[in-house]
Amino acid sequence: MGLLKGINFHGGFLVFVFLLFFIAMVKSVEGIGVNWGTQSTHPLPAATVVKMLKDNGIQNVKLFDADSTILKALGNSGIQVMVGIPNDMLNSLANSEKAAENWVSKNLSSHVANGVGVRYVAVGNEPFLATYNGSFLGTTFPALQNVQSAIAKVGLGNQVKVTIPLNADVYGSSSDKPSDGDFRSDIRDLMLEIIKFLSDNGAPFTVNIYPFISLHNDPNFPVDFAFFDGNSNSINDNGRIYQNVFDANHDTLVWALQKHGYGNMSIIVGEIGWPTDGDRSANLQYAQRFNQGFMTRFNAGTGTPMRPGTMEVYLFSLIDEDHKSIEPGNFERHWGLFYFDGTAKYQLNLGTTSSNALVPASSVSYLAQQWCVLSSSANLDDPQVVLSVSYACANGDCTRLGYGTSCESLDSRGNISYAFNSYYQINDQLESACKFPDGLSVVTNQDPSTGDCKFRIMIQLPSSSSNEGGNVGGVGHLEKPVGLILFVLVILFVIL
Ligand SMILES: *[C@@H]1O[C@H](CO)[C@@H](O)[C@H](O)[C@H]1NC(C)=O
Ligand SMILES: *[C@@H]1O[C@H](CO)[C@@H](O)[C@H](O)[C@H]1NC(C)=O
Ligand SMILES: *[C@@H]1O[C@H](CO)[C@@H](O)[C@H](O)[C@H]1NC(C)=O
Ligand SMILES: *[C@@H]1O[C@H](CO)[C@@H](O)[C@H](O)[C@H]1NC(C)=O
Repeated sequence: MGLLKGINFHGGFLVFVFLLFFIAMVKSVEGIGVNWGTQSTHPLPAATVVKMLKDNGIQNVKLFDADSTILKALGNSGIQVMVGIPNDMLNSLANSEKAAENWVSKNLSSHVANGVGVRYVAVGNEPFLATYNGSFLGTTFPALQNVQSAIAKVGLGNQVKVTIPLNADVYGSSSDKPSDGDFRSDIRDLMLEIIKFLSDNGAPFTVNIYPFISLHNDPNFPVDFAFFDGNSNSINDNGRIYQNVFDANHDTLVWALQKHGYGNMSIIVGEIGWPTDGDRSANLQYAQRFNQGFMTRFNAGTGTPMRPGTMEVYLFSLIDEDHKSIEPGNFERHWGLFYFDGTAKYQLNLGTTSSNALVPASSVSYLAQQWCVLSSSANLDDPQVVLSVSYACANGDCTRLGYGTSCESLDSRGNISYAFNSYYQINDQLESACKFPDGLSVVTNQDPSTGDCKFRIMIQLPSSSSNEGGNVGGVGHLEKPVGLILFVLVILFVIL
């Protein structure tokens, strides 16, 4: 009796430990993902970024194209990848099966063969965005079909799924209730064809959801409702309570899908995040509040009222991109969890590592500690000043200047210096890049940064002779011991 009890206890304990390990394993497969965009004047080396992903316990990454240097660096890293096909390739892929087969052979099969864990191919990026005026309406679906056939043809159909990252503007609700959700009327028939195709191929629906844009576009939008800690505004949708716009938006999609018979289709949140600069609603405090609020819920696995449980999500984004179009707004270059150089912007607990802070990029090389500023003898009435600043801003990055930004407190001399320095740094501190007319500019060793307004030093681009792409470190380091322990536990469990 006593003995039996002991064994039972022992067995129960092992089941418990087994479950813990199992949960840990599942979590490491389904953990948070990030978007890795590369529209930067000075991107960090791919190997540095891959190490950063691993150091931060990030297991899933979404790319916007199929850059071979990046995919090589991701080989045998254990990181799961969504590769992207840019919108400007949709036309050729739609019109030629051969082009789709070439894309798959060059940008998918060869990398899969080299140990890159590609799980999805994103065909286009938000191609039905209202601002594209329907440019990609005719080509997206045929391109999707051709890419899918090409993937099936090389035998990767079960392993790699196609999807189309869509902006949440493809659906909406006729009221403030998610249950009134449906697809945008001008594209509804096309959406339904695409959804049927995705469903037939076991592929997910991917949607990008941006509470920041809700706040940015509508000055009367209730601020609380953009975040996950507010409760002053809530929507009661037939008993389902919505306390944040993310849940409400996500479930509007669930209802739209359900209305057309696809209520259980899997949904990936392809982009979600908050920018830190360039707009009155874009700052470190809001970004931290949003991303931490989101991560805490994500890790709790609560899901949304219509889809309780874990989600598949890619944060937008990993690193700032200083070469993105600022047509949507100056905030567009400031979505990163990390600055351009891989330093963390704020405290964020992703729940993926034992530390509760982001781990910065390691071994980053910077240019010299020097800045280009307005000369103290410069006369602001000189007509060359305006011309020089507009030239510097057009070719540099002035998205931190102006109302509601981190450099809003600069005076006009500070503004001009900021513009000059940005141009100088982006041009790798070339002597000629600090030679504005009439002796307006001068190089200094004194850091002109004040408070939150940082005059940054650019990072060094890797020289062709450098030794990048070597050891990205720790491949399979964690997985193997966990697998081994699990194996031993299973054996013990079976024996007992
Ligand atoms: C592979 O992907 C790259 C990057 O997106 C693209 O430039 C190239 O055209 C693609 N190759 C083919 C054969 O489609
Ligand atoms: C879409 O149409 C508007 C208004 O006709 C125009 O200003 C804009 O440039 C167009 N955008 C694209 C991407 O064609
Ligand atoms: C949705 O439900 C149908 C029918 O019950 C099932 O065949 C299909 O596999 C389900 N799909 C998902 C994504 O759960
Ligand atoms: C600084 O530059 C920004 C953006 O160009 C402008 O909005 C602001 O008024 C300028 N401030 C001063 C004091 O000149």
